[in-house]
Amino acid sequence: MKGHTKMRLKANGITVYVTKSYEEMSKKAAGIVMAQVIIKPDSILGFATGGTPIGMYKEMVRIYQNDGVDFSQIKTFNLDEYFPIKRDNQQSYAYYMDHNLFKHIHIPSNNIHIPDGESCDVALECETYNEQLYQNGGIDLQVLGIGNNGHIGFNEPDVCFEARTHLVQLDQETIEANARFFASEEEVPRQAISMGIGNIMHSRKILMLVSGKSKANIISKTLFGSISPTLPASILQLHNDVTVILDEEAAEEVLGNPEYTRLL
Ligand code: GLP
Repeated sequence: MKGHTKMRLKANGITVYVTKSYEEMSKKAAGIVMAQVIIKPDSILGFATGGTPIGMYKEMVRIYQNDGVDFSQIKTFNLDEYFPIKRDNQQSYAYYMDHNLFKHIHIPSNNIHIPDGESCDVALECETYNEQLYQNGGIDLQVLGIGNNGHIGFNEPDVCFEARTHLVQLDQETIEANARFFASEEEVPRQAISMGIGNIMHSRKILMLVSGKSKANIISKTLFGSISPTLPASILQLHNDVTVILDEEAAEEVLGNPEYTRLL
């Protein structure tokens, strides 16, 4: 047990690292992503947005600037984008990725894929995104956050798991949670284009970041609860290579569950 980790656990087959703070969680996650880039310089990386991974992107940029890691052959696919939204809107995920990562590292713009929030044919955009994922052979390492209601990407709680990239109607809870990034709740787009659960589950490795008290309950249910589309992230229990990195606050209820196994 060294570096950024306080504790390493297995929870329903998922490797869980508990770190002591948001900074440690971010550093640990950045280390894993950068190692993937170094080990396989033509990796396909899946990226997430939201508040949680910002520290990880910052740390990736720092490592890039210090150590000059080569991103020239890396391809990226983002999980989702609001719909409709203009690319240059500061709340678009295209803007977020450019601002937090892409403009700081040298990566060919053709290698970057984010669903087009300006598309005038959403069905075609979803189909094209699926096709691009498939043509590129799927994702080597997918980064995920988790919504307060257990969503991954923008796959909201539902009666079934949606497999492919699709147009989503955002839950009121998600609109309220994401309103903090917009001037008002009214400005939050009501829809989004999101990779499906099938797209996410086809990733060879998954790395989920979870921070803060408000996520303690949902991550505990994700790891130990029953697998159900009403908690989309619970399906990760069926993937064979998932790593979850928690900060201490997010780990509170996980550590209160007797079903985990502590690894040395
Ligand atoms: C958004 C994104 C998700 C993200 C979630 C949680 O809804 N679509 O990919 O995981 O927010 O965001 P935060 O990290 O800000 O809690």
